[in-house]
Amino acid sequence: MTALPAPGIPTTEPGSTLGDHVLRQLRRLGATVGLSESDIALYGQVLLDSLAGAARRPLSLPPASPSFLADDHTPVEFSLANTADGTPALRVLVEPGWAHRDMSDSARAGLEALRAMPAHWGVSTTQLDLLHDLFFPTAAKGPMALWYALDLRPGRPPGVKVYMNPSAAGPEQAARTVGESLRRLGYGQSLAELPPGAGYPFLALDLGAWESPRTKVYVKHPRLSADDACALSRASGAPEADIRYFFQTAAGPHLPSGQGPDSTARLVRRPALTCHSFTDGEIAPSGFTLHIPVRDYVREDEDALERATSLLAQFGMDPGVLKRCLHALTRRQLSDGAGLIAYLALVYERNRQPRITAYLSSEAYAVRPPQEQSPQSTLHLRNALSSP
Ligand code: TRP
Repeated sequence: MTALPAPGIPTTEPGSTLGDHVLRQLRRLGATVGLSESDIALYGQVLLDSLAGAARRPLSLPPASPSFLADDHTPVEFSLANTADGTPALRVLVEPGWAHRDMSDSARAGLEALRAMPAHWGVSTTQLDLLHDLFFPTAAKGPMALWYALDLRPGRPPGVKVYMNPSAAGPEQAARTVGESLRRLGYGQSLAELPPGAGYPFLALDLGAWESPRTKVYVKHPRLSADDACALSRASGAPEADIRYFFQTAAGPHLPSGQGPDSTARLVRRPALTCHSFTDGEIAPSGFTLHIPVRDYVREDEDALERATSLLAQFGMDPGVLKRCLHALTRRQLSDGAGLIAYLALVYERNRQPRITAYLSSEAYAVRPPQEQSPQSTLHLRNALSSP
């Protein structure tokens, strides 16, 4: 990974710092979604404070740590959540402990950032205290310790979310950590509700101003097919046709016609994730999300935007804001890289309109060049694989 942007793609002003870069993006994105200057100023200040000294790090230096938050190791990622009936909402994901390579130090910096948030946001770390030994052991293991995200709401406190690593005590402990966390949080029988997968990359909690705060568990699914995605979503009540359309559109028009139905194709590069949310002490999940890492299945970002645009239009959402957000994020041509849209996600929560979320990379350190390999060869026919 090079710390330099791809040749000929000016991503940042000369002499600028990480803080300058992400603040400029926040201002431009905030204006695009209609946040006021005072909201943007407050959110920007919290973002800078939580990055502490790292915000002043010149972009001419390489990333302070090999953060897993984004491919180029920027400790910040934006996202845009779209619904059919409202203005898209901007969110920002942050790794406050980015400058610490040691995961225990990183966790400490993360907890400090949560405690330093403005009092009127109502963030309490009581639930985290309950889970401290599970997620913040001495000699915690990576690849992350604590991230937080803010759902930026105009004129009112943001929704704060915290993400932790179920493998902090080692990958072999992840299932036990998830089960024990659910039990301590009042979901003692919910572990059995989670689908099989290849690990639990995150456990997340809603903190502060939420009507129904969620406990969320993320599950990793290598080589997912559209049929698998439909099976995983079944309990959520999400219409199967919507899941299938979302999967196939986000994964791309991968198979030349006549070679077989799309439902037999699998995501063989970066795995898809599902997220299962639990609310109000109920055993069964109240929410389901399918995350497709679209960046690994496109040639370049024009492709990714095209897919996102089709999806948004199909679900009755306005694709215009996303397009403006991409231009607010970067001055590079979309066709000059792959990765500005990191994931596309389809979210179902009980009693709410479906959402489509696009995760938007900051690219402070690098732009991944367009992929030479055609996306067609990244998906394989099931019958061409030795096992499903
Ligand atoms: N960069 C990591 C990944 O690609 C983690 C991550 C960042 C992520 N943003 C995300 C995972 C949004 C799912 C959705 O897996």
